[in-house]
Order: sequence, then C-alpha cells, then structure tokens
Amino acid sequence: MRIDILTLFPQMFEVPFSFGIFKRAVDQKLIDISLHNIRDYTHDKHHTADDYPYGGGPGMLLKPEPIFEAVESIKSAIHAKEKISALPIILLTPQGRPFSQQIAQELSGHTHLALICGHYEGVDERIHEHLVTDKISIGDYVLTGGELPALVIINAIIRLLPGVLGSEESPLNESHANGLLEYPQYTRPAVFQDWPVPEVLLSGNHAQIAKWRREQIIRRTLERRPELLAKTTLSIEEKRLLEHLISSPKESPLILNKEFRK
Ligand code: 6GU
Repeated sequence: MRIDILTLFPQMFEVPFSFGIFKRAVDQKLIDISLHNIRDYTHDKHHTADDYPYGGGPGMLLKPEPIFEAVESIKSAIHAKEKISALPIILLTPQGRPFSQQIAQELSGHTHLALICGHYEGVDERIHEHLVTDKISIGDYVLTGGELPALVIINAIIRLLPGVLGSEESPLNESHANGLLEYPQYTRPAVFQDWPVPEVLLSGNHAQIAKWRREQIIRRTLERRPELLAKTTLSIEEKRLLEHLISSPKESPLILNKEFRK
C-alpha cells in the first residue's frame, strides 16, 4: 500500500515511522509512505500556505492552491494501470465521519491513499467540495491539526495488511474486531499479590476456557460499552447469556435502555 501524506509538519511523522511495527512494515516494503510538505507547493517568496477568512472571524485557513497542486502532482505520478478515480483523497477534519475499525478495514483494501492534514482553523471550503473524496475524524474533541489523526488512522490500517503483524499478533481475536470488547487475559505468575488467575484458565479444559471467554466478552461489553451490543449479531448462546445478565440486577447494576432487552 502506498500512502501520500500532505502536511505542514512532515517531521511529525519521522519518529513514529522509525519504530516497531510501523518501521517493520516500511522496511519490508509492505507500505510506502510519501510525505509532502504543503509549503513546497506554494510559489510566493514567503511560502504562504494559509490566509485570513473572507468575511472575517478568528484564525487562518489553509489556502486551496498548494493543496490542489500537491494532489495533482500525486495523481500525475500514479501508474497508468492504477485508476486515478480509485484514489481516496481523505481530509482529516473534526467534521469527518467518525473513524472506526470498520473504516480501517475498508481503507486497508485500497492500494493507495492520500491523506490531507488540515490545520489552523480549517481549510478553504473548495477543498472539501471539489478535491477530497472522504473526510474522517478520530473523535469528538478538537486537535490542533490532522497529523496525529493521520498517524492513528495509518496505524489502524497497516496492522490489518497481510504480513505486517506476525501470526502471534493476529488481529482477529481482539477488541472491536467482532464489534465487542476482548476477554480478560492473564500471564504468569498464577498468583500475584493475593490476586489469583481465574481457575478455569489453569484447568487445561479448552471447551470450558472458550465458554468462559465468550461469557467474559458479553459481560464486559455490557458493563463498559453496552451500546456495542445493540450493533452486533449475537449467537443464540450469547443472547441467552445477555438476557440472563440483564434480568439479574445483582449481576448487572446498569440501567439499560430497552434496545438491549430485545
Ligand atoms: Cl481529523 N482533526 C482535528 N484537527 N481535530 C480532530 C480530528 C481531526 N479528529 C478529532 N479531532
């Protein structure tokens, strides 16, 4: 996968890409990251990338010309066999669709992405309207720029690419992969400061362990993120357990809305 990043601060990407799984993916050529400094696409002597908003108001906006020009140069470098129309051009902005594991999965299917890191008070509306094909936010809070969101999104995507994680780090079992939270895990010692590991995990009974884990997934999700249960499809066994947990107030002190009682 090739990822082109348009940013005013390319240095913000250097450290993350030189460690751990990011670095390994780059070294193994599973991803090819190209950083583009938006300022390099300006033509005035001060390399002006931002300007005042028409109509007044606080802050500065990213100007359209350098960003359009940078995207044009990325497109013109695209091989003939790759369709330009298939290139997602994604603006990182608090106004985008909320990022999720599902979007990470969707984006991991592309061979090429372009990410534009917004800055200052925002970007000229013509970038929203006539250049980008997608807008993504990483949550309902405001950051000073799109660089950290871009790193979050790239991290979530590349760990899904074949070969990036070793088999021991499989992305299949984890929280959110199935729309629910992960079961609790323990490693040695079996007793740490009076706190023992649940006995079933030491039993060697794989059927019991699997059952205990499925139960924990439901309990935990009900306790911590009940809204996730409404969005996923449960097996008959899981539904039965969920009904049991909801109907015994001792087990579940939460007050749940009727959506979860279905
Ligand atoms: Cl993508 N950008 C900025 N500036 N702030 C954010 C965000 C993005 N997502 C959440 N907050």
